[in-house]
Amino acid sequence: MKRILLCFFLFCLFGIQSIWSQEPLLQNAYNRPSTLLNGNWKYVIDPYDTGYRNHRNWLPFDRAESTKASAKPYYTDKVIENRWDRVEYNFNTSSEILVPGDWNSQFEKLEYYEGAIWYRTTFDYTIKDDTEVFLYFGAVNYQTNVYLNGEKVGQHSGGFDPFNFEVSDKLKSKDNSLVVRVDNKREKHRVPNYTTDWWNYGGITRDVKLIEVPQTHIQDYQIQLDPNNSDLIKGYVQILKGAKQNVTIEIPEAKINETFQLDEMGRAEFQISAKRIKKWYPKRPKLYKVEITCGEDTLLDNIGFRTISTDGPNILLNGKSVFLRGISLHEENPIKVGRANSLEEAQMLFGWAQELNCNFVRLAHYPHNEHMPRLADKLGILLWEEIPVYWGIDYENPEAFAQAKSQLETLVHRDKNRASVIVWSVANETPEVPSRLRFLRDLKKITLAIDDTRFISAALERDEKSTADTVKIPDPFAEDVDMIACNEYIGWYSGLPERCSEVTWELPDDKPFFVSEFGGGALYNHHGDKLTRWTEEYQEYLYEEQIKMLRKIPTLRGMTPWILADFRSPRRNLPLIQDGWNRKGLISNGGHKKKAFHVLKAYYDEMEEIYDYSIKD
Ligand code: GCU
Repeated sequence: MKRILLCFFLFCLFGIQSIWSQEPLLQNAYNRPSTLLNGNWKYVIDPYDTGYRNHRNWLPFDRAESTKASAKPYYTDKVIENRWDRVEYNFNTSSEILVPGDWNSQFEKLEYYEGAIWYRTTFDYTIKDDTEVFLYFGAVNYQTNVYLNGEKVGQHSGGFDPFNFEVSDKLKSKDNSLVVRVDNKREKHRVPNYTTDWWNYGGITRDVKLIEVPQTHIQDYQIQLDPNNSDLIKGYVQILKGAKQNVTIEIPEAKINETFQLDEMGRAEFQISAKRIKKWYPKRPKLYKVEITCGEDTLLDNIGFRTISTDGPNILLNGKSVFLRGISLHEENPIKVGRANSLEEAQMLFGWAQELNCNFVRLAHYPHNEHMPRLADKLGILLWEEIPVYWGIDYENPEAFAQAKSQLETLVHRDKNRASVIVWSVANETPEVPSRLRFLRDLKKITLAIDDTRFISAALERDEKSTADTVKIPDPFAEDVDMIACNEYIGWYSGLPERCSEVTWELPDDKPFFVSEFGGGALYNHHGDKLTRWTEEYQEYLYEEQIKMLRKIPTLRGMTPWILADFRSPRRNLPLIQDGWNRKGLISNGGHKKKAFHVLKAYYDEMEEIYDYSIKD
């Protein structure tokens, strides 16, 4: 009897959870016809979880038996019917908030708010026969609970990764009530957890849309040049319902039109000749329209075909050695101040990177919105993407690993067809303890299981404790990465800029070396001599000395100095200089270039001449 009760309890605890966890992410949701639910939603600030938890036992209302009748949980979206009704919230008479957008930058009273906020929108929807409807979120920071017409749809943990729920049977033709609870509190088991050097922007920060697909639809695919034979295109298509059908891959410009049969698992793996394909290069970012058809479902994508590999210390793009002239950037509009999420903001950020003569960008420290990799494909900018396994994560906690795994799987799944993405990074400045090494090695395995065509890396650290003149990277995870990357702040956090000329680097010679961060802070238009910290002159001198030092490293194949633009951080509190901003940007939060910008650009102009970018195929 006890065993039966235990099984019942476990089902109740996990079975229900699994019912409410989201469906596998639709591949290429970006290009699927959809109904946007963006705009002004109603919102209610709920710091004590009044609308989510029973105040006596702290249990969430949506875990208890049906609470539809109850007036307490905010997700029932109750309205007052009788003058004697007692309902202590009312979305209809609440204030409005813009979706997408973080709440911190929309209202001064929410600038530092960390807690729960309820969102509500209403809409009509007519579902067509033989179709399924998915409710898709581009990203919500951090914990999301979704309710449609008073019923729990599902929940998601993770602040920067898209997710979707199948909602076909919960929709009504009129007055659908969509209620979303968002909680951005920093918690020990979350990824990232307690401290980050960026603003904890909370809210529905990217698009919300309804995507309608045929019941038998293309759920996933990957199409790219075979890493081992660039004369072939290698790939697969996966559908979830209706095996044994045919799937057609068409690339009209390359005169490709091939049909394959799906196996009993709804999957077809294929190879197609690439003889008419012109490869994708930063200087010639050639994209092909790819049309995938299965039954009633047709999905269009734009794909660049290229190979990426290493050869000893060299990074090869289509077999040719490249130098990654990069810059790091946060997903933030430094001028408007707030999370960036639009195509126009992506164009602004990449425009600044192109003015710097970059061919590479590090999208720090979390998955960015999907405009970024898709625009990078068009502009010919190579990308480093990462998840926020950042500083001190709870490496011993399976829940923390589950969240890192979920975010990584979603990022790789979402962007595995983007030519611009060449690096998956699983960590940034993480402590060298055994539990962290296991954590990262398991994340590497998970990445390779989805996509083994790109580099695995992580922003490691040099031997910070050593004051010796020889700089090493003793981190054991350096054995596991394809490209050894490290953050080093010689001249800012350790020593003054002249320290750069006193050190030599001792590195393995069989892998590319990459500097994922260096830099220093400067307040725009704050001037003084080159040893006065926070002046543009100090930052300029630091960049000059860093570049002199890095040039000497024979295995150096790229860098992403920290950082393109000043960005908001609650950790930066020096009055009149920082005022809640990290000032390491080469561009100020007013959009002005600092002196160091021109030092880096001159170096990149020179490096562009050294590396052969002539295109022959
Ligand atoms: C670290 C960290 C960054 C941070 C930077 C800094 O390297 O990776 O997120 O902003 O240092 O101190 O400015």
